[in-house]
Amino acid sequence: MSISVFFLALFVILYPSFSAFIAPITKHHVHNTPFYSLKVQLQTPLQPTYLLLHVGANFTAVDCRRNYTSITSRPVPCNSSLCHSLQNNHDNNTTCDTATTSGGASGGCVISHSPHNSFALVDSLALPATDGRNPGQLSTFTEFVFTCSDESSRLLKGHAKHVVNGLTGLGFSNYSLPAQVSNNSSVFALCLSGSPSAPGVAFFDLPKPYYFLPGIDVSDHLYYTPIFSHPAVTYTKKPNTKRYENAYYIGVKAININGRPIIINQTLLKVDENGYGGTRISTINPYTVLEQSIYISLIEAFRKESKTMMLRPFKPVKPFRLCYEADGLSETHLGPNVPQIDLVLQNDVSWRVLGKNSMVRIVDDDLDVWCLAVVDGGVGATSAMVIGGHQLEDNLLQFDLGTKTLGFSSTLLQHKTMCANFNFSTNNAIKPF
Ligand SMILES: *[C@@H]1O[C@H](CO)[C@@H](O)[C@H](O)[C@H]1NC(C)=O
Ligand SMILES: *[C@@H]1O[C@H](CO)[C@@H](O)[C@H](O)[C@H]1NC(C)=O
Ligand SMILES: *[C@@H]1O[C@H](CO)[C@@H](O)[C@H](O)[C@H]1NC(C)=O
Ligand SMILES: *[C@@H]1O[C@H](CO)[C@@H](O)[C@H](O)[C@H]1NC(C)=O
Ligand SMILES: *[C@@H]1O[C@H](CO)[C@@H](O)[C@H](O)[C@H]1NC(C)=O
Ligand SMILES: *[C@@H]1O[C@H](CO)[C@@H](O)[C@H](O)[C@H]1NC(C)=O
Ligand SMILES: *[C@@H]1O[C@H](CO)[C@@H](O)[C@H](O)[C@H]1NC(C)=O
Ligand SMILES: *[C@@H]1O[C@H](CO)[C@@H](O)[C@H](O)[C@H]1NC(C)=O
Ligand SMILES: *[C@@H]1O[C@H](CO)[C@@H](O)[C@H](O)[C@H]1NC(C)=O
Ligand SMILES: *[C@@H]1O[C@H](CO)[C@@H](O)[C@H](O)[C@H]1NC(C)=O
Repeated sequence: MSISVFFLALFVILYPSFSAFIAPITKHHVHNTPFYSLKVQLQTPLQPTYLLLHVGANFTAVDCRRNYTSITSRPVPCNSSLCHSLQNNHDNNTTCDTATTSGGASGGCVISHSPHNSFALVDSLALPATDGRNPGQLSTFTEFVFTCSDESSRLLKGHAKHVVNGLTGLGFSNYSLPAQVSNNSSVFALCLSGSPSAPGVAFFDLPKPYYFLPGIDVSDHLYYTPIFSHPAVTYTKKPNTKRYENAYYIGVKAININGRPIIINQTLLKVDENGYGGTRISTINPYTVLEQSIYISLIEAFRKESKTMMLRPFKPVKPFRLCYEADGLSETHLGPNVPQIDLVLQNDVSWRVLGKNSMVRIVDDDLDVWCLAVVDGGVGATSAMVIGGHQLEDNLLQFDLGTKTLGFSSTLLQHKTMCANFNFSTNNAIKPF
């Protein structure tokens, strides 16, 4: 062994480096609707970039027609193997565009045609390394692949143009953000904070530990259930227009309220080959959406159980149907004291949903109520259940795409911590590979 290799080895032993990365997740409100964004550094020079958190998207999509001036961005050539792989096609007949748009996007490999052509781009993305306790030094990925499109504006109906610059794809694809920054595992974890002023956190390529103040490793408190990806029909407002997302599904077997199962048509709980039915996780839905028959069954059972707890419903506030005056509810650190909801999952584990996650507080002029935070998906809803952001807050979710398991913590509040308790003070001794 040469002397320099020896010193290099010594250096590596004394200063461990980490191949795991983190990013803060911020909660925003636009017109009273919450959504969540992941903060990364993108372009050269690096710019802070807020990307709508989307677990159902294959690619990161950045609105690079607005203010995108990176000196390192470059299009993906049409007939390149990268383009073939991105378009997921095997006959090498790639779709090309020679049009030039302003900013960083200049034609090349076309990823999607609707509603507009979106092009593939390559640029630098940077994230801090982590040991699961603190962020460390930044690591730059110079070959980060994403698409140039205004998909995030479409999803947010244009409301949040000034807040986010795009969306981040965390779906089951080789070009998702986790896949592109991971070296050693197919694991990422999300912890959404309920507070707009204190961010939650995403961990990439880190199976454990996940430390939250005061020194609690949440990876010790996870339950596991199978997870799988499948195309989901997500949009059917206009007749004959279907959209698909590459969604993550879990197997809900029953829903219990105060320990008693509600009546559910079991057929709805399975996702069929066309992408209807089943229970998927969505970080772009603020509240859980239930197919109408399940919704009615849940509301009625919840109303009945709350009656036995001496709770009297109050005038409902749209879009919710079951609300209670805040005055009439007792509250703990776990939220208002209301009937407990359990999602019974494959592997016979329960995802417990307590007041902080099942109820949302609405304060207006002369109104102060807690409402059951689920919405009616209507008849013919495309999924039986879509578990939305409010129900995910202060829960840690670990997506292991290698073993196809979801680790979930239920509310961290029961362990006296929360997603905003990650210690974001930088520790410069944490070096990336
Ligand atoms: C464009 O980006 C620069 C650098 O981040 C920023 O100072 C400027 O305000 C941005 N302009 C617009 C219109 O967003
Ligand atoms: C892409 O490759 C195909 C088949 O090799 C060829 O016919 C076509 O001209 C190429 N297109 C471009 C834009 O180079
Ligand atoms: C497609 O292109 C790749 C690389 O560009 C090449 O290796 C492969 O043989 C091509 N396949 C066909 C069917 O032309
Ligand atoms: C390539 O795709 C286009 C449109 O999808 C189609 O019109 C054309 O026939 C295809 N070419 C080959 C050689 O398969
Ligand atoms: C997403 O990627 C997966 C895996 O590559 C693929 O099967 C699926 O068709 C893609 N979905 C969309 C909507 O592009
Ligand atoms: C990722 O790429 C590998 C190798 O090309 C392939 O076997 C695998 O199916 C791809 N995964 C997805 C999710 O597309
Ligand atoms: C994987 O790790 C090697 C060093 O072990 C490093 O050079 C490479 O950049 C890493 N790749 C990613 C995607 O993290
Ligand atoms: C890669 O993962 C394995 C186990 O999955 C672990 O033992 C090993 O230390 C990891 N290597 C790095 C460089 O993180
Ligand atoms: C259960 O749902 C399926 C799928 O929507 C439907 O075809 C069936 O009629 C339903 N069964 C009952 C008893 O409502
Ligand atoms: C947060 O992390 C920093 C850097 O490691 C450390 O100095 C500080 O004590 C930590 N804060 C708490 C409250 O533990």
